[in-house]
Amino acid sequence: MEIGIIGTGNMARGIGTLALDAGHDVTFYGTKRENAQQLAGELSGSAKAAAVGDPLEGDVVVLAVWYPVTREVVERYGDALDEKVVVDISNPVNTETFERIVPDAGSGAEEVAAAAPGARVVKAFNTTFAGTVAAGEVSGQPLDVLLAADDEEAKQTVASVAEDGGLRAVDAGPLERARELEAAGYLHMVVQEGLGTGYGSALRIVA
Ligand SMILES: NC(=O)c1ccc[n+]([C@@H]2O[C@H](COP(=O)([O-])OP(=O)(O)OC[C@H]3O[C@@H](n4cnc5c(N)ncnc54)[C@H](OP(=O)(O)O)[C@@H]3O)[C@@H](O)[C@H]2O)c1
Repeated sequence: MEIGIIGTGNMARGIGTLALDAGHDVTFYGTKRENAQQLAGELSGSAKAAAVGDPLEGDVVVLAVWYPVTREVVERYGDALDEKVVVDISNPVNTETFERIVPDAGSGAEEVAAAAPGARVVKAFNTTFAGTVAAGEVSGQPLDVLLAADDEEAKQTVASVAEDGGLRAVDAGPLERARELEAAGYLHMVVQEGLGTGYGSALRIVA
C-alpha cells in the first residue's frame, strides 16, 4: 500500500516505522523538504520525502500534525483529498494550557470530515503513543489501535495497516465515536505524570 504521512515528528516516525516495517511504501511530507528527507533516510524500507503542498502519493494520507494544523492541511489540499483515506490521529488540546478542546463538530475527526467532504476520514492511532507504535507492543502485549469511521472499507484499510505491523485493530464504530476516542486519548495523556512511564504505556481492552 502507498501511504502519505504529513508531518515529520514523533507520530510520523512511529506510524512510518510501523508501515515501512510491514512492507508498505511511505512518503513523508515535511514543512521543509529536508526534514522529510532526513526522516526517510533514517528509516529502513521504501521511504520517500516530499514537501507539504506537493501532490499526495497513494490512497492513504495520515495527518501526523497537531489539531490546529489539521484544518490548515485539509484546507490546503482541498479536493485533492477526495476519495483518499484520511487518517486523523489528533488529540485536540490547547497547546499552551494542555487542556482538552472539544471541537464544535463533536471531535477533530468530524471537523476534518466536514472540511473535506470527499475524503474517507478515519480516526485512529490517537490512543497510542509514538514510541509504542514504533515498538508495536508494551510489556510484550501488542498495541490496540482503536478506529472509528463511517466508511467501512476505509476503516478496514487503516485496520490492515495496524494489523500488518502486528498490532490489534479494534473497531469502535462510526466516526461519531471519535468523540470518545479523543476523550480516551486525552485521559491517557493526563495519567502520564502519575504513571511515570514517560508516554510508554498503552490503553488495551482485555477480555
Ligand atoms: N506524540 C504522541 O505520542 C501522540 C500520540 C497520539 C496522538 N498524537 C497526535 O499526533 C499529532 C502529532 O503529534 P506529534 O507528537 O507527532 O507532534 P510533533 O512531533 O510536534 O510533529 C508535528 C509535525 O507537524 C508538522 N507541522 C507543523 N506545522 C505544519 C503545517 N502548517 N503543515 C504541515 N505540517 C506541519 C511539524 O513540522 P515542523 O517540525 O517542520 O514544524 C511536525 O513534523 C498530534 O495531533 C497529537 O495530538 C500524538
